[in-house]
Amino acid sequence: SKGTYDTFMLKEIDEQPAVMRKISSHYFDGKKINVDQKMLKDVADADRLYIVAAGTSYHAALVGKDIFENLADVPVDVELASEFGYHMPKLSKKPFFIFLSQSGETADSRQVLVKVNELGFHSLTMTNVPNSTLSREATYTMELLAGPEIAVASTKAYTANIAVEAVLAKAMGELKGVKAAQDLDLQGQLALAANAIQTIVDEKDKFKKIADDYLKGKNDAFYIGRGIDFALSLEAALKLKEISYIHSEGFAAGELKHGTISLIEKDTPVFAYINDGVGAAHTRGNIQEVAARGAHVLVIASKQYAEKGDQVIIPEINEMISPIVSVVPAQLIAYYASLARGNNVDQPRNLAKSVTVE
Ligand code: F6R
Repeated sequence: SKGTYDTFMLKEIDEQPAVMRKISSHYFDGKKINVDQKMLKDVADADRLYIVAAGTSYHAALVGKDIFENLADVPVDVELASEFGYHMPKLSKKPFFIFLSQSGETADSRQVLVKVNELGFHSLTMTNVPNSTLSREATYTMELLAGPEIAVASTKAYTANIAVEAVLAKAMGELKGVKAAQDLDLQGQLALAANAIQTIVDEKDKFKKIADDYLKGKNDAFYIGRGIDFALSLEAALKLKEISYIHSEGFAAGELKHGTISLIEKDTPVFAYINDGVGAAHTRGNIQEVAARGAHVLVIASKQYAEKGDQVIIPEINEMISPIVSVVPAQLIAYYASLARGNNVDQPRNLAKSVTVE
């Protein structure tokens, strides 16, 4: 039930700190990571991971690529389920497939899994619904533990999925003796993430005001960022477009000048993310470029990279998993933009919670 909330979406946004704590307590036993040891050996033995997903889960996979490559020292391909099944590239010698699916019922992902099973490769489904089709048909399952997600726009399943990817990546890295995995205090980071999300959701009025100031009467908006912030921008833009119906795009900040910057005019809303240290200085340059063309820029920056005048500051957290926290302002901005337009926030037009057609 919605309890005291008017919408499931806002309730589910607010549940994210508790979900982070639940993932931490379920998957850790003191310092020991609680995952199926047979699965762990199987996946750690792969020469390449193929992460297959759709929509928001695909965006969680893009974040996961960085996490697995760093912590588990394995190359990762991220694939759109609707493309991959029918245009399968030449696979590596020892592939392992990871399916990300909140519902576990997405037909696009399932048709890939059917082919993977025919080919005799092993697979893992990370899902919020343990008895779902994708869970039953994959070799292994890891639960997202986000609790039922009712709003069509996915929020807590995205953040849960990134956290669970990090759990597996750390376990793989420890098994393989990867220093980055040994050094990462993931329990500590998940606790920091829970607290950081809490400070953001406690400031709802701020995000309502941002939605009004930046998006009222607007037809187009952009999220930009580099590296981890590019993956995050895709999810932020999807959240905004699917419930507010404002055309929004997520862009690699450095790509704007290769075409898209022609769309920037006076008062075009541009939300810029600065959580990725390597990309930070260049993204600042891109912000100046769009601002010089009249864009109405909002900067969402991690504390360690923030500059005077940045509108939203994200508490400091490990960069790889920072989208767990920095997506939350985008969820709230989308929520309030949708509400202001009188839309049905939980059930946006033309969409269904689980997409069971290809
Ligand atoms: C967006 C959204 C969809 C789903 C996509 C995959 O908010 O919810 O993009 O993420 O349809 O669904 P699952 O994760 O259930 O496979």
